[in-house]
Amino acid sequence: MKIRAAVLEEFGKPLVVDELDLAEPRRGEVLVRLAACGVCHTDMYTASGVDPSGYAPTVLGHEGAGVVERVGEGVSTLEPGDHVVTLFSPQCRECVHCLSPRTNLCLAIREQQNRGYLPDGTTRLSRAGEAIRHFMGTSTFAEYTVMPEIALASVSREAPFDRACLFACGLSTGLGAAMYTASVQPGSTCVVFGAGMVGLGAVAGCRLQGAERIICVDPSHQRLELARSQGAGECWEAGEDTVARVLEATGGFGADYTFEATGLVAVMREAVEAARMGWGLCTIAGLAGKGETLDIVPRLLITGRRVCGSSFGGVKGRDQVPELVERYLRGDIDADAFISHRMPLHEVNRAFELMEAQDGIRSVLTLGA
Ligand SMILES: NC(=O)c1ccc[n+]([C@@H]2O[C@H](COP(=O)([O-])OP(=O)(O)OC[C@H]3O[C@@H](n4cnc5c(N)ncnc54)[C@H](O)[C@@H]3O)[C@@H](O)[C@H]2O)c1
Ligand SMILES: [Zn+2]
Ligand SMILES: [Zn+2]
Repeated sequence: MKIRAAVLEEFGKPLVVDELDLAEPRRGEVLVRLAACGVCHTDMYTASGVDPSGYAPTVLGHEGAGVVERVGEGVSTLEPGDHVVTLFSPQCRECVHCLSPRTNLCLAIREQQNRGYLPDGTTRLSRAGEAIRHFMGTSTFAEYTVMPEIALASVSREAPFDRACLFACGLSTGLGAAMYTASVQPGSTCVVFGAGMVGLGAVAGCRLQGAERIICVDPSHQRLELARSQGAGECWEAGEDTVARVLEATGGFGADYTFEATGLVAVMREAVEAARMGWGLCTIAGLAGKGETLDIVPRLLITGRRVCGSSFGGVKGRDQVPELVERYLRGDIDADAFISHRMPLHEVNRAFELMEAQDGIRSVLTLGA
């Protein structure tokens, strides 16, 4: 079938909305009609050319939500009409990682996905007979996409697509960092560094876990206001003295849980240093630049602080994204507050410009009718 999609033709250049061919879903695959897609930093990161694993041409986009249109042979858990959220982090439910409660890093299709192919090593996207690679296994800046069944979460039909799509990446990453990776205990003190989509999600996750004190740190006043509405009782402008302030506010000990959601290694270090002696856990969600390293004084670890990273918030996508969407529908999670702009597919480059200008938290592309 013919579809319209936003193609990364050349790094550092605007995306080009073009007509492509999309082949039918094969065994274990699903054709999804996309309805909405959030525009995330990772899309811009890859488009800019700084992503060392990036490739072109490809159809970007990984924060999608839509409706199952057709299923390939052997697909047993989805049927036409189901509402789905796309998962760049799949869940096969069979590999050694899926069977362990300790990680969400499914091993089933990693290699092919990282190279831009569906699990059988081919693409469904093409143009004039030339294969076009998929991006993050999702390629959701498009009217339709073909994805593996194991990379789609079936969610409630009551959730509006433009809200549901946020659970495909940023919002789940933040919520999950607090809820699944760190498993924040009720009554805790938490500090979240960064109030973008991920940090704000972490603030909400800490609140849902019953944290007693939630401090959010960011240079932007506007973003700190959003943090307040997500449950941060204390909002601090980022400064040189943040670690000292955390220590002072916690009787000299530090916070039970700290979260880094900026991608800046200097802030990661602050998040480690602000964690409590004895048991403080620092969770790192930000992606650092190529070659950058994190400096930690080993004494901080010997005296009981722990550091861990979190990919997609530790969320096991097919099981837990539907649960998070349910919590949104019950009113526990305010996803509406994150959407600052809605626009059609052909304005995708404007969404990148808004992101660069830090104008709003999320632009959502509204796709199809
Ligand atoms: N681990 C994952 O699976 C995953 C998924 C999505 C995004 N990410 C990464 O998470 C990070 C955050 O993503 P985002 O979409 O929220 O980005 P964002 O740019 O919207 O938010 C980052 C925030 O950090 C703030 N900041 C800058 N300097 C600071 C400082 N010194 N102290 C405190 N805050 C500071 C900025 O003002 C901004 O509000 C990025 O690195 C992104 O690549 C990771
Ligand atoms: Zn993302
Ligand atoms: Zn798996």
